[in-house]
Amino acid sequence: MGNTQEIINLCNTYVLNTYTRTPIVFVKGKGSYLWDEEGKKYLDFFPGWAVSGLGHCHKRVVNAVSRQLRDIIHVSNNYYSKPQAQLAERLSKNSFGGRVFFCNSGAEANEAAIKLARAYGAKEGRYKIITMERSFHGRTLATIAATGQEKIKRGFAPLPEGFVHVPFNDINAIKEAVDDITVAVMIEPIQGEGGINIAGEDYMKELRALCNAKNILLIFDEVQSGMGRSGKLFAYQHYSILPDAMTLAKSLGGGLPIGAMVVADKFVDFLKPGMHASTFGGNPIVTAAANAVLDAIEKENLLDNASRMGDYLFKQLSRLKRRYPKIINNIKHKALMIGVELNVDGKEIVDECFNKKLLINCTQGNILRIMPSITVKKGEINKAIKILSEVIAK
Ligand SMILES: Cc1ncc(COP(=O)(O)O)c(C=O)c1O
Repeated sequence: MGNTQEIINLCNTYVLNTYTRTPIVFVKGKGSYLWDEEGKKYLDFFPGWAVSGLGHCHKRVVNAVSRQLRDIIHVSNNYYSKPQAQLAERLSKNSFGGRVFFCNSGAEANEAAIKLARAYGAKEGRYKIITMERSFHGRTLATIAATGQEKIKRGFAPLPEGFVHVPFNDINAIKEAVDDITVAVMIEPIQGEGGINIAGEDYMKELRALCNAKNILLIFDEVQSGMGRSGKLFAYQHYSILPDAMTLAKSLGGGLPIGAMVVADKFVDFLKPGMHASTFGGNPIVTAAANAVLDAIEKENLLDNASRMGDYLFKQLSRLKRRYPKIINNIKHKALMIGVELNVDGKEIVDECFNKKLLINCTQGNILRIMPSITVKKGEINKAIKILSEVIAK
C-alpha cells in the first residue's frame, strides 16, 4: 500500500470518525516542512496542533529517542528510571520548584490537577473549581466539565459536578464566583483554542492575591502555551507571579506523547501513594525526548528565537492588517502564539493556504491560529506571509 486514496479510504473505514480531516497523507517531516505521499512539500505553521514545537523530527529528539530505544523502552513506575528523574528535576528547577507527576496527555495532566485540588479541599468539603469561558482543558469527562465551551460538553451528561465558568480577564467575575466550597481556579495564561486570549498583567496579580487570601489553588494550564512558545519557557513567567500547579503536554515531548503536572512544594503531599497513577506516565522514551527538547531550547537559544521571530511575524502580519483592514480586525500575540482575528470566516482562508501548501489553523470560526515551531527562520516566515497575502488579496 502506498497510494494516498487507499490510505484515506482505509482510515475512513476503520478509524472511528471523530476528527474532521483534510485528505492528505504525510510521510515525512523536517523542521518547518512536511512532505506528502506524492512528495509535495508543505510549510507547516501549525505543527502537530502545537505538539511539534521544535519542528518536525528535531535531531536532538531523534537521537535521544533512538539511543533510549536501544537501552530500555519501558520501566514501570514501581521502579526508577534516569530520564524520568532528570526531567522531573529540570521541570522543577526551571519553574517554581516542587515535584512532577507524569502522564501521557494534556487532558490527563489536567485530570491530575483536578484530583490534586479535590484532595486538597477534601477535609473541608471544598471541591468547586472556577475555570474560564472559552477555555479548553481536554476531552475526558472531568476536563470537558472544566472546559468553558458548551459545544465540547454537549451529549455527555451527566458530567462531574463542581465546575463553574466565568469570563476571562475579569477579576470581579472570579471574586463573585468564589464561595465556601471553592478550592481552585484553573486558567490558561494564554487561551489557545479560545482564540489566543492573553491574560492581563494586573488581572493575574489580583488573581494570585485572591487565591492566597481565600486559600484557593491557582492552577495554570500551560499545555498549549508552555515550552517556549510564548518566548519564555512557561507563559506564566511573563507575569511576576507563581502558580500552585501547572500542567504541560503538547510540545513537551517534541512529538512524543507526554503530559506533566508540576506541583509547588506546599501541595505535594496531598497526592499520596495509591491516590493517582499512570502506567505509561514518565516512560523512559518520552522523558528522554522531553529532556532533548529542554536541551534544544537551552543550547539553541530557542526562547530568544521565539521572541525575535514572534515579533517579526507580528510586524509582517500587522502590515497585512494595514493593507486589508476590512478582512483583518486584530492581531493577538505573545511571541509565536498568534491569533489573527478576521472580520470574515477563517475556513476559506485556511483551505486556500492549504492549496498553496501553507498549513495554518482556524479556531472559534474567525481566528487564524498561527503557531510555527520555535525553531522557525525568517525566510520561512517571509514565505508564509507571501502565501497568506496572496490568499487574502484573492
Ligand atoms: C490548553 C489545553 N489544555 C489541554 C488540552 C488537552 O490536551 P490533550 O489533547 O493532549 O489531552 C489542550 C489541547 O488542545 C489544550 O490546548
